[in-house]
Amino acid sequence: MQLVFATNNTNKVKEVQALIPEHITLLSLKDIGCLEDIPETQDTIEGNAIQKANYVKAHYGYDCFADDTGLEVESLNGAPGVYSARYAGEQKDATDNMNKLLAELDNKNNRKAQFKTVIALHVNNELQTFTGICEGEITTSKTGAEGFGYDPIFKPQGYAETFAEMPLSIKNSIGHRGKAVSQLVAFLNKK
Ligand code: IMP
Repeated sequence: MQLVFATNNTNKVKEVQALIPEHITLLSLKDIGCLEDIPETQDTIEGNAIQKANYVKAHYGYDCFADDTGLEVESLNGAPGVYSARYAGEQKDATDNMNKLLAELDNKNNRKAQFKTVIALHVNNELQTFTGICEGEITTSKTGAEGFGYDPIFKPQGYAETFAEMPLSIKNSIGHRGKAVSQLVAFLNKK
């Protein structure tokens, strides 16, 4: 079975590839000749995931899935949430985003946060969504060099390290995207 993963983020491809069974061949957007930016203009994480999967299905005809992720911080009423990528501006820079979040939380005691991933899957003309959540807290400084995005300032519940200090296998086993992908794989295996 061939399935397109509708992302240009090579870190995400690496994470998801490690979780997908061998009988599913993962194609990238480059593999199908999709070089344009896929619109992400919805105001919910779920809406953006569905928008991206619908776009690839409508324009390229492939069965596909897309993910959208946001970091929801309790004391900021769920921000940056769906706006996580451009939290500190349109340049979508991870360091700028982390610095802004650390500054916003400077005087806050409650540092609870969660990552939320929604995967939207288009297969056999059916649309399904899967949600994965990982709870944790925002640290007071950046540590670690693994992963991407907000990983250096997110410490999952029950762990002393940030995501950026962990091997990918551990991040995948407890993380938001890993949880959503497990549901996706279970669904595909039942088909
Ligand atoms: P998107 O799903 O690519 O739209 O991601 C939204 C924002 O969340 C971007 O700034 C990503 O870098 C960040 N992000 C997505 N997944 C992760 C993750 O697993 N760890 C840390 N940051 C992430």
